[in-house]
Amino acid sequence: MMNRKVTKAIFPVAGLGTRFLPATKSIPKEIMTLVDRPLIQYAIDEARAAGITEFIFVTSRGKSALEDYFDHAPDLEASLRAKGKKDLLNILENTHMDSGAIAYIRQHKAKGLGHAVSCAHRLIGDEPFAVILPDDVIAAERPCLQQMVEAYEETGGAMVAAMEVAPEQISSYGVLAVASDIGRVVKVKGMVEKPTADKAPSNLAVIGRYILTPKVLDNMSSVDVGAGGEIQLTDAIAKEIDHGRGVYGFRFDGKRYDCGSKAGYLQATVAFALAHPDLKDSFSNYIENMVAARRAAQ
Ligand code: G1P
Repeated sequence: MMNRKVTKAIFPVAGLGTRFLPATKSIPKEIMTLVDRPLIQYAIDEARAAGITEFIFVTSRGKSALEDYFDHAPDLEASLRAKGKKDLLNILENTHMDSGAIAYIRQHKAKGLGHAVSCAHRLIGDEPFAVILPDDVIAAERPCLQQMVEAYEETGGAMVAAMEVAPEQISSYGVLAVASDIGRVVKVKGMVEKPTADKAPSNLAVIGRYILTPKVLDNMSSVDVGAGGEIQLTDAIAKEIDHGRGVYGFRFDGKRYDCGSKAGYLQATVAFALAHPDLKDSFSNYIENMVAARRAAQ
């Protein structure tokens, strides 16, 4: 049976971003930039590359800058046009969304990732859909979600991006219990959200890319409050295994940055600057000189 095409994606962006206070006091963390693009733009570009045409944002109070970001900016565009700045107008083109292609839903209470995703239930209908967590930025030759959509055409079921992490970090993640390891695709027999290192079933962690079916959203009504006192997406996906339906982990090609943490965000900033055509030469000189000066001073 052909699996249905994935054309909708949910972007949970309701979080408070407390790890970046005071920066996130007045701007959503998803608007923070890596070099010259906000985190949310990386997520949208990846979704578009994977064939997504409908974008659903689960937001909260204080996130209106996100809505403005994806809107046309008539004054700015008129002024760029008057000055003949075609290159800048082209850059803005990427930030536009067709009317009707984008929807915003508010999560009124911070009840966890599972609850946030379930807020979009009615917009999903009966199609498979993707979930992208914009904090997880993945640099890859072929965008991660595109790799997953191709793998999903073979597997169906529910699929999560997966990556091995160090044992001391495992308690920050959803973790997979592996039934069989078939190379890049892993058949999953259990999932635990944020286990302690001694209880973790493996060191294969869930990374913020998912392809799910509406059945996962149906499961949400019977999911108990889980790790951290929140309704967890991991627990709703794990219920698919209890129902005898397929759940798969997908080891993607690419480098993932945890932009929800200061260290990960800074690492991504350096890596993206070193890869940026306008910056890479001067920036790599700068870094080399800085490292050499630090070594000399030691
Ligand atoms: C969320 C998920 C977790 C996943 C992680 C990946 O956790 O709940 O299963 O491993 O994203 O980044 P959070 O980082 O929001 O606490």
